Amino acid sequence: MLNDFSPLFQPLVIGRGAKKFKLKNRMVMPPMVTNLANSLGEVTRRMVDYYARRAQGGAGTIVVEAMDIAERVIFPRLGIFHDRFVHELDNLAAGIKENGAAAVGQIYHPGLRGRHPGPDDLSPEEIRNIIEDFGQAADRVKRAGFDGVMIHGAHGYLISSFLSPLTNQRKDEYGGDGQRRARFAADVIRAVRKVVGEDFPIFFRMNALDYLPGGCTIEDAQVTAPLAEAAGADVIAIGGGVGPMPHNPSLGNVKSYGQIVMPMYVPRGYRVDLGAKVKEKISIPLSIAGRINDPNLVREIIVSGKADLVDLGRQLIADPDFPQKIAGGRIEEIRRCIACNFCLGKRMSLGKQIQCAINPWAGREAELKEIRPADPSRKVVVIGGGIAGMEAARWLGKRGHRVSLYEKSSQLGGQICLAGLPPGKGEINTLQEFLIRQMTLWNVEVHLNHEVSAEWVGKQKPDAVVIATGGKPLMLKEISLSPEMRCLSAWEVLSRAGQKLGEKVVVLGGGFVGAEVAEFMGERKMAGEITVVEMREAIALDLEPISRELLLEKLQESGVKMITRFQIREVTADLVVGWDGGEGRRKEIPAEAVVVALGAESVSFPVERLKEAGISHHLIGDAREPRGIAEAVREGYLTGISI
Ligand SMILES: Cc1cc2nc3c(=O)[nH]c(=O)nc-3n(C[C@H](O)[C@H](O)[C@H](O)COP(=O)(O)OP(=O)(O)OC[C@H]3O[C@@H](n4cnc5c(N)ncnc54)[C@H](O)[C@@H]3O)c2cc1C
Ligand SMILES: Cc1cc2nc3c(=O)[nH]c(=O)nc-3n(C[C@H](O)[C@H](O)[C@H](O)COP(=O)(O)O)c2cc1C
Ligand code: SF4
Repeated sequence: MLNDFSPLFQPLVIGRGAKKFKLKNRMVMPPMVTNLANSLGEVTRRMVDYYARRAQGGAGTIVVEAMDIAERVIFPRLGIFHDRFVHELDNLAAGIKENGAAAVGQIYHPGLRGRHPGPDDLSPEEIRNIIEDFGQAADRVKRAGFDGVMIHGAHGYLISSFLSPLTNQRKDEYGGDGQRRARFAADVIRAVRKVVGEDFPIFFRMNALDYLPGGCTIEDAQVTAPLAEAAGADVIAIGGGVGPMPHNPSLGNVKSYGQIVMPMYVPRGYRVDLGAKVKEKISIPLSIAGRINDPNLVREIIVSGKADLVDLGRQLIADPDFPQKIAGGRIEEIRRCIACNFCLGKRMSLGKQIQCAINPWAGREAELKEIRPADPSRKVVVIGGGIAGMEAARWLGKRGHRVSLYEKSSQLGGQICLAGLPPGKGEINTLQEFLIRQMTLWNVEVHLNHEVSAEWVGKQKPDAVVIATGGKPLMLKEISLSPEMRCLSAWEVLSRAGQKLGEKVVVLGGGFVGAEVAEFMGERKMAGEITVVEMREAIALDLEPISRELLLEKLQESGVKMITRFQIREVTADLVVGWDGGEGRRKEIPAEAVVVALGAESVSFPVERLKEAGISHHLIGDAREPRGIAEAVREGYLTGISI
């Protein structure tokens, strides 16, 4: 029956000892580094709040992020290499369990990814010591009150690099065929089992595929998983991909990293079938991770038997209440992760604390508790129905203000109506749809086709005004443009899908919008030959690295020419003329049309008039300064909770 989500809420019994362990449902939060630890690698209050909130949202199992098993420079990662960590980890486990979820702690050794010795560099004695360290770390996980331990055997860390023929060329019992390469993993599992006893669940995380030439294949994974089961694992948790190894990109690079944390260009749940192939070889439960953000997909996975548990990684950062909303029939209220990788590329990888582009209080859970109902309820006018305006309006409405939102066009969404159009970016539409539904839910009065002026606002006598008028494309200003050249903005091109622009089209500006528009034109056959020219040394530098890598690959495949370090000097009737810094010479590129993708500027609003009239106002999103979704949502939220 469609919409029957009961399979998601069926408990799952795991374990091999006399005492079994019951997971209350099939939804798992897989481990995800938050950088919320303190500088000593210890648990903080903020971290406890973050995980407790996810447990509160209804996930059956919460796996705490990778904890380092041996002392090294880990800031700001979580450590578990000393008994002193148990003290605060105890609070963390309690925070999860008190909110109804099973608490599992992941333990890992970074190996080559942390610039530590890899499989080929370790002596037998060092291997024995590391195995012992894993055992001690697992013991601490148990003593801290967790319900289970996860051994990290995926993503290119030490255990994973023992599994891979690319990084393991040992000649002893730890190297050779798949079975021998899995020996280290099996020894670690056995050591952990010995320490934690039969009744304590062990999850083993491993790759279905490394996505690296010469790395682990699905056949390797089919060898490893049953060996892990035989060694004592109770659950196999499937991931994929290998993180970057800056010292040797052939062992791990941005592309293989993108398979760990797939960007929106990758279809939802695309690793499920690979996981199912591993499941064929084992008799213990299997969980699967990778771009799963849709209740129907979760249901499909469970009902089809392709996996027993479903990992909801970024989805639970974006909306911790995903399970609870499904249980309560509030599917329409789910805020879906758009797989933009802001959390990873613009936060975690830069050593910053976790944040989410569309959930501004992720990592700041305590702030939410302080949100107060409107008192008194005020009359608020929101100008602009983009995401900044809608995010502000929904919080204002939710808190009990009387909110009217005015949008000059015929639809809500602003720029994200365009942002979701380039190939593979449709996931962004889910944010637009979510916010539109929120307008109804929180009684926001929406007025479309209504351009607001300062005079009009004055007449309404509102208590407060939110100015979210957004951005508009920046056009050629200082560069001479022949009136005979056909010239459109990237935004216009996106809204004219399918219209042929010419045989040769040059995109002026190779930020990610220019690059995406080039791909869009290619896919829709709007141009024959497409060239992107960019002043900086590379294309799409404003995009987070994983998405960028995939975008560049797609552009190369579709034959788009990219010229970097190109300074545009002039656009004539049939040429783009500029200085090619790479070749060190003046260059003329024939063009029948040019597409301007040089960024955006704010749409101004005469705030002085509001000031004169004594009306309080708040300027947010691209109207304040053109940036991106994260800033628009965050400023909308902050304004929505502060009036
Ligand atoms: C093609 C494209 C792709 C993008 N891709 C990404 C991406 O992948 N990731 C990312 O982070 N960002 C992306 N962005 C940027 C992102 O979409 C914007 O930063 C964000 O949507 C800005 O939201 P906003 O609400 O501040 O403004 P806008 O979306 O510009 O909304 C402002 C709204 O106000 C209305 N308005 C203006 N003046 C008035 C008035 N006087 N009265 C009534 N209504 C008015 C406008 O019609 C508009 O609907 C992209 C942008 C484009 C164009
Ligand atoms: C910010 C971030 C940190 C991560 N840290 C870990 C980690 O500590 N251990 C791990 O096994 N996987 C880690 N991952 C991978 C996730 O567990 C998960 O497999 C991946 O995000 C794909 O699932 P998703 O599409 O549901 O997010 C991390 C992912 C993200 C986004
Ligand atoms: S930042 Fe983007 S990818 Fe990360 S959880 Fe939020 S929506 Fe998902």
